[in-house]
Amino acid sequence: MPYLQADLEVLKEFERGLDPRHPEKSLIPAQILGYGEISTVFEIQAGGLEGLACKRLPVFRTRDEAEAYRGIYEEYNRILRDEVGLQLPAHGHAEILKDDGRPVFFILQEKLPPASIGNRALAFLDREKALALVLLVLRELRKVWDYNRSQGALEVALDGQISNWSIVGFDPGNPHLDEDTRLLYLDTSTPLFRVAGKEQLDPELFLRSAPSFLVWVIRLFFLEDVMTRYYHFRLVVTDLIANFYKEQRPELIPDLVALANRFFAEEVPHLGLSPIAEKGVVSYYREDVLIWSLYLGLRKLDRFLRTRVLRREYPYILPRRIKRR
Ligand SMILES: Nc1ncnc2c1ncn2[C@@H]1O[C@H](COP(=O)(O)OP(=O)(O)O)[C@@H](O)[C@H]1O
Ligand SMILES: [Mg+2]
Repeated sequence: MPYLQADLEVLKEFERGLDPRHPEKSLIPAQILGYGEISTVFEIQAGGLEGLACKRLPVFRTRDEAEAYRGIYEEYNRILRDEVGLQLPAHGHAEILKDDGRPVFFILQEKLPPASIGNRALAFLDREKALALVLLVLRELRKVWDYNRSQGALEVALDGQISNWSIVGFDPGNPHLDEDTRLLYLDTSTPLFRVAGKEQLDPELFLRSAPSFLVWVIRLFFLEDVMTRYYHFRLVVTDLIANFYKEQRPELIPDLVALANRFFAEEVPHLGLSPIAEKGVVSYYREDVLIWSLYLGLRKLDRFLRTRVLRREYPYILPRRIKRR
């Protein structure tokens, strides 16, 4: 698989002219491909960068920090692909130094067809096909937890949300899914894995883009949860199902719960997972919405304080408000 590269001069130009508030209005415009809870993925409309999905990480203070992240990011990709056996899109990275000397790290991926991304594809899937898609996701997730069980020192985390998968060869005009349909896993920018129980990624990086007035609250109450939830298969599946509220398909939830519980009992009994209850999914979702919308709201407040009151730069691209029920 080719290691992707980007034209660094063009990236630097992009960074110089970037309008983080409206990336699509930057000097070199960027088209948003998708928002996650904390990051934005876009395609930069300039020769040399087309066809690449870029995720921009402006959190590093020094090149050493960025270099340490790069190593962990590469290793995570390697473990997922070569050891766990997931399929990943072609990827690479690029690092530039801004005029003020700060590094900006870009994760690069081949741009996948927008309609192939799980949450977008859902719009073309009836009930039966949507359930088939989730079963395929569960089988990919199984590889991770089977791997973790077979391992002594290494433990890998994964975020199984439907928006983190791309259906290979998906045709929205003729949506078709079967046992052999392949999925690519996209969301490798939070490389969580432990070696002999030790988290490799520096948790402080999570706090960098948080409002400074919140850092202590997050460190005290949330950091532990965010860093550990993706190690637990049952929680990852709960999260995957709860996301169907956000993806506007809540009517599927009872069937998804039944599907997951059947999968736990029939396909992965050796993992000893206790069944998920619909009630648990609902309360998980309520809490999740509350936390993330509160968090986004406070980041916007922080941006306001920094740019309008303190007249300083605010380097992060914030997601637009996500439509939720
Ligand atoms: N390679 C890609 N091609 C096309 N769209 C992408 C690609 N990578 C990410 N996206 C879009 O951006 C969204 C967020 O990306 P993701 O890696 O999941 O970030 P986050 O960690 O913020 O969830 C995805 O759900 C998808 O819609
Ligand atoms: Mg994601």
